[in-house]
Amino acid sequence: MSIIFDEKSKVFSIITRNTEYQIKINEIGVALHTYYGKKVAGQDMSYLYRELDRGFSGNPYELRNKRGVSADTLPQEYSTDGAGDYRVSALIVRLANGSGTADLRYRGHEIISGRENLKGLPYVRVEKDRVDTLKLILEDKTAGLLATLFYQVFEDKDIISRYTVIRNESGDVCSLNKAASACVDFMGKDLDLIHFHGRHAFERQPERKRVGHEVVRISSKRGTSSHHNNPFVILCDRNADEWQGESYGVMLMYSGEHAEEVEKDQAGTIRVVSGISDDHFSWKLGAGEEFVTPEVMLAYTDKGLSELSFLFHRIIRENVCPNEFRDKKRPVLMNNWEGTYFDFDDDKIMEIADSAREAGCEMLVLDDGWFGARNDDHAGLGDWVVNRDKVKKGMDAIADHVESLGMKFGLWFEPEMVNEDSDLFRAHPDWALTDPDRKPVMGRDQLVLDMSRPEVVDYLYESIAAVLNSAKISYVKWDFNRSLANVFSRGLPADRQGEVSHRFVLGSYALMERLRESFPDVMIEGCSGGGGRFDAGIMFYSPQIWCSDNTEAINRLRIQKGTTYGYPVSTIGSHVSASPNHQTGREVPLMTRAIVAMAGTFGYELDPRKLSADEKAMIREQIGTFNRYYDLIQRGKYLRLSDETDEEYYTSWGFVSEDKSEALLNLVVTDVRANPEVMYVRLHCLDPEAEYEVDNCISSSEKVPENDAGEKNRIVGQVFTGAALMNAGYAFDPMFGSYPAVQLHFKKI
Ligand code: GLA
Repeated sequence: MSIIFDEKSKVFSIITRNTEYQIKINEIGVALHTYYGKKVAGQDMSYLYRELDRGFSGNPYELRNKRGVSADTLPQEYSTDGAGDYRVSALIVRLANGSGTADLRYRGHEIISGRENLKGLPYVRVEKDRVDTLKLILEDKTAGLLATLFYQVFEDKDIISRYTVIRNESGDVCSLNKAASACVDFMGKDLDLIHFHGRHAFERQPERKRVGHEVVRISSKRGTSSHHNNPFVILCDRNADEWQGESYGVMLMYSGEHAEEVEKDQAGTIRVVSGISDDHFSWKLGAGEEFVTPEVMLAYTDKGLSELSFLFHRIIRENVCPNEFRDKKRPVLMNNWEGTYFDFDDDKIMEIADSAREAGCEMLVLDDGWFGARNDDHAGLGDWVVNRDKVKKGMDAIADHVESLGMKFGLWFEPEMVNEDSDLFRAHPDWALTDPDRKPVMGRDQLVLDMSRPEVVDYLYESIAAVLNSAKISYVKWDFNRSLANVFSRGLPADRQGEVSHRFVLGSYALMERLRESFPDVMIEGCSGGGGRFDAGIMFYSPQIWCSDNTEAINRLRIQKGTTYGYPVSTIGSHVSASPNHQTGREVPLMTRAIVAMAGTFGYELDPRKLSADEKAMIREQIGTFNRYYDLIQRGKYLRLSDETDEEYYTSWGFVSEDKSEALLNLVVTDVRANPEVMYVRLHCLDPEAEYEVDNCISSSEKVPENDAGEKNRIVGQVFTGAALMNAGYAFDPMFGSYPAVQLHFKKI
């Protein structure tokens, strides 16, 4: 059993393979968070809290003469507002009598084997894992509120997932103004915060700062998790790097408005609270009703940021993503978006399919523009009926043609959106989120459907299911191309408008769930103008997400690297697009573009009819290479091998199989120099005693595998010990030309 409760000391120890998490119920029933980190061999860690009288930090009534005990300084499992804890709160209420105080005390607990699955929200699935759950029941008798904290312990995976259920037992209606998923307090640690900010076409850039005494709030109030602030944060030792140092990860499984707040208090304790953002949130909780928060995953390692990433990669791949697609080889796709934009008809798409097949692609995805009056981005969203002016022979004819080539067929949708210029909006203007008496904020000339209304979800289910039933469709790209504004639902009364942004997310999840149930073999690729909804919530329904609308390989190096801190390569949608690139105008060799896109789900997004015979042959080889290393790339350990200083010159990354039998080492020179330095790249996670031979090398330039003496391919056949590659590194000769890249495959001999 991974959860131990000691009756005498009232300490819960949650123990995973390498970590321990402790909760202590104190003398007046407050659930204290006393420890999270390496195992401590049965020690009660509450000694870390020193009962020091700090002025202006009040005391609970029962302990009014014990001035060293204050809600304001105690490390808490679930902090509340109004009862003397002035730090960031997890729970903020407004009770029927107007009071804003909540004060939770221990009522009881249950330890169960397995877990209770969430309904309507994503959660960490139990697969072959051994999982135990602690249900810690806290209550505020005066308020009539119950807060049950759930801890799911994935012992072998070193992951603890948490969520909270608030139940109103008061007999009156109250309002939740904030209900976070989790709160964790760290005593005696000086930590850095790493979070992932960004913008459209430049997502998930790490930013690292020392946690100070101000509240740092990483959040989104855009209706989605957003390009701008991902719902994943790391807290780590000030000197932690990729390969050493204590690191904690907090990852919210939620696709809507979120907040991760971090603060160091007067006593030096660091608090992190993660959950639904309270910016727009308030929830009326009727008598007897419950509110369930999203789930959050916690991980800890003392082995640095890469090891932390491995923990999240594994749990997401094996326990979050739909298991139908876990071990199944996913097809290398050709998407027509950057190839044609809106300018296509069925003949053109079939020609593109023919050329894509010649180039070796395994799936053809028809992107935006096949439905309603969608000839540009001003009309048609919401009308999920095939546009027979463009798709004259019908969608089934395209799908049949693609299938006859031995490929799969996929289709683009943007379910949650509607254009004013659409039959749907003309029929149901009240189905859009708009403020009464006010002109709406437009985004890409479109409005957002009110997913809090069941009739909207029903309509979308019926119309999308009809298309999916009409042709052999194996894949859906599920887009979402604007931020929410004017979040007002015609389906809810004035005093419930604070619920709309969360109900919106629940509506989206309900639609995904229904479509997944009806079409379990159809793979959904998430998307939101690239990576605007790139989170572990969407991954519950969709094993891959289009990472960024920026398809330019050199920019992508940074976007993909930032994404890998939390998310596995198997979720990172990545394509080779045309050169010069449509977003930056930069020219990058085809092989470099492919080597970069292989650090993801891999595909192409261009007009294959414009490829030369040589280019098609090269693409066939690239797809062959990717497929050969598919398991290594999708399931191996992903290594970030260059740091910020290196990256002024080159970027390097790699993959090592779990059994250490093979590795793939990649390098792109991002700033070619005259008379340059040798690039030494140290690998990790190999077997030090074993010998590894380079058995394949691909590169963007004929020149790369050749030395001064003109010996070709001298790289292939080289043998190194794992220890040499890890302690001194592989020595890359300088490379020249435009953005040269090389990929080496090492095989244990
Ligand atoms: C978004 C997506 C793109 C493409 C367009 C179509 O921007 O991220 O990949 O599908 O929409 O309009």
